[in-house]
Amino acid sequence: MTDPNFKITTSRLTISYLDPANPLHCSFLVSLWSTPEFLSMLDGRPNTITTPAAAKALIENRFLAEHARNGYGTYLISLSDSNTPIGTVSLLRVPSLLAPDIGFALLSEHMRKGYAVEAAQALISYADRELGTTAVFGFCDERNQASMATMRKLGMKWEGTRKLKAFVDKDTAVWSRGMDDVGDWGL
Ligand SMILES: CC(C)(COP(=O)(O)OP(=O)(O)OC[C@H]1O[C@@H](n2cnc3c(N)ncnc32)[C@H](O)[C@@H]1OP(=O)(O)O)[C@@H](O)C(=O)NCCC(=O)NCCS
Repeated sequence: MTDPNFKITTSRLTISYLDPANPLHCSFLVSLWSTPEFLSMLDGRPNTITTPAAAKALIENRFLAEHARNGYGTYLISLSDSNTPIGTVSLLRVPSLLAPDIGFALLSEHMRKGYAVEAAQALISYADRELGTTAVFGFCDERNQASMATMRKLGMKWEGTRKLKAFVDKDTAVWSRGMDDVGDWGL
């Protein structure tokens, strides 16, 4: 089990672990997985996180396992003043790539307030400081304007759209930070 007291704080946000035993976290994930923006990211694949039980299993079997294996993974973003869950921010290890992948998702009503940038900046700084991460990738669909703008705002470097072996040759918009030549980074 990951440290229940772990927190990264920013001026407005608290970043913490998702807890499978917390019903609020499980029902929040069901809501997050059902926003129109999240569903469009699934690109036609069925949404499997439609019940609190499925969310609980996702936290237990995937998120906690990733944290245990890699020392980082998917985190909950909450508003610090009310403790309300509003989104997730993640740093994910992609097999074969030498740097992890930064990602984010927010509930629709909390979008366009600068929260994704604030949370991702804080997670990247934490990873640099505490985990010794020197580089990160950001992958998304080039048609996802919100994600593209968030990567840009984070100061990531645009590397173009590429067919990535790690994503079964799917066209993927690639952003990078902290690497000179992405060709050497396992793409
Ligand atoms: C991508 C996402 C996390 C952005 O969250 P957010 O908190 O609204 O982003 P921010 O408020 O921090 O804004 C970051 C930048 O994106 C821009 N932006 C946000 N939503 C946008 C949209 N729908 N269209 C165009 N630009 C958008 C903002 O204007 C800002 O850029 P700017 O300051 O240069 O104008 C959110 O749209 C989301 O959850 N989408 C669904 C999940 C997803 O696609 N995740 C990406 C996978 S990597």
